Order: sequence, then C-alpha cells, then structure tokens
Amino acid sequence: MARKPLVAGNWKMNKTTIEATFLLQELAYACEKRYEDMDVVVCPPFTNLRSARVVFDSDKSGIKIGAQDVFWEDEGAYTGAISPLMLKELGCSYCIVGHSERREFFGETDEMVNAKARALIRHGIAPIICCGETLETRDAGETESFVTAQVRAALTEITADEAQKAVIAYEPIWAIGTGHTPTPEMAEETCAAIRLELTELYGTATAQEMRILYGGSMKPSNVKHFEPLPNIDGGLIGGASLVAADFIDLLKAFD
Ligand code: 13P
Repeated sequence: MARKPLVAGNWKMNKTTIEATFLLQELAYACEKRYEDMDVVVCPPFTNLRSARVVFDSDKSGIKIGAQDVFWEDEGAYTGAISPLMLKELGCSYCIVGHSERREFFGETDEMVNAKARALIRHGIAPIICCGETLETRDAGETESFVTAQVRAALTEITADEAQKAVIAYEPIWAIGTGHTPTPEMAEETCAAIRLELTELYGTATAQEMRILYGGSMKPSNVKHFEPLPNIDGGLIGGASLVAADFIDLLKAFD
C-alpha cells in the first residue's frame, strides 16, 4: 500500500510576525507546483498561524498549516493554553504533540501527549505524535522498547479508525539540531519496530496506512539516505524548514 508522503516544517520558537510573513511568502512563491500526491505542512508558532493561513489560502501551493502544541480542553480557565477548537478555527489540519522539547522543557508526559492526541482527533485535526530516544537509551540498547512504549502510550484509547488520522514522527533526541543523524539502517530499524507496534495495536491494514516520519537534522544533503526507506513516509523538519530553498528541496526529494 502506497502511503502519501508528508513533509512538515516545525519552525519551533522562531520568527517574528514580519519575519514569518516574509518566509511564508518566499515558500508560497518558491513552491513551483501544487503538491497533490504529498501533504506539505508548515507549523509556525501560534502567533503566525493566521498569517500562514492567509498566505497559503491566496496561492495555489496547497500547503497546509499545523500547530506545534495544543491543550486538551475545548475552553475554560486554562491561562495561556490554546484549544483544538481554536486551531480548527484557524484552519489547522495537523498539530505536533509530544515533541521532545515539550517533554524536556514543559514536563509533558505520555499521559498528556495521549490527552492532546485524543482531543485533536475529536476535532478532526491529525496529531503528529513525536517519539524518540536519548543517546543514553540508545547506548543501553533500549531504543526500540522505549520508543514503542511512547507510541503505545500516546495511542491509548484511540481506535483503529481514529488512529488512521494520526502520524508518528520518530525523532532521536540526539539527532535534533545537532547535525548528527542515525544511519539509514538505524532509522529504518526503529521505524519498522514502530510499525510492528502499530500492527499489534491495530492490525496490518491500519498499520500499513499510518505514516511514520523521520525527524532530526534532516536536510537536503542527507535526505537521500532516508527517503527510500520502506518505513519512512516523510520528514519532520526543524532548522531546514526555516530556509525556503532548503525546505522546497526536501519536498522535491519526497515527491
Ligand atoms: P532539526 O531538523 O533542527 O534537527 O529539528 C528536528 C525537529 O525537532 C523537528 O521537530
């Protein structure tokens, strides 16, 4: 079964409104075609989602927008939080959850990641569920058990039908922003273990439909190592998504 590739840019906490508007327009302009056979997603900070919507609505690129986080309640006294309803209103079709930076700096647990994923699915927004090991975990030979436990926990009480909308992003923590990447064999081995876990949870048909992305120092110069791997269906791109030409090159690699 051929899965539709997905390439998502995670801008993280970068770009003021003016800078973001410039980059969004650069992207829309440089995108030479409408990607019909691939999902292209840009996840700017909350403050730039509306600008992204306006820019991508007014051109033909077909680029979708996503958020980098969400809270699980629809509304209420949760100072500082953003709800799935608010994201939906802005036209977000994807939202990253459980990024290792949120786990590290904001104390996000597997239970919170699961609550966020369920809330998003309830509102028709596809969660991009991140998982990934530290270097210590990898050195201890525990990568597969650690990562698959994260995936299983994030998908608690999510049915096979609902899970089809979810995307898993494998991002080894030691590869994020470091310039280090796993070998293709390491990346494929871990993503295959994730798919096996999905098969155990949901059966072959659903597991074969779900998309698994690789993230961590992916750039135009190394994408060729990851793109052909059977269990990798796209990328979650940090640094390289802040440079329009690099992001477009990555899209071309997966097209
Ligand atoms: P880098 O591509 O900058 O390593 O970041 C990856 C990432 O964390 C995407 O979510």
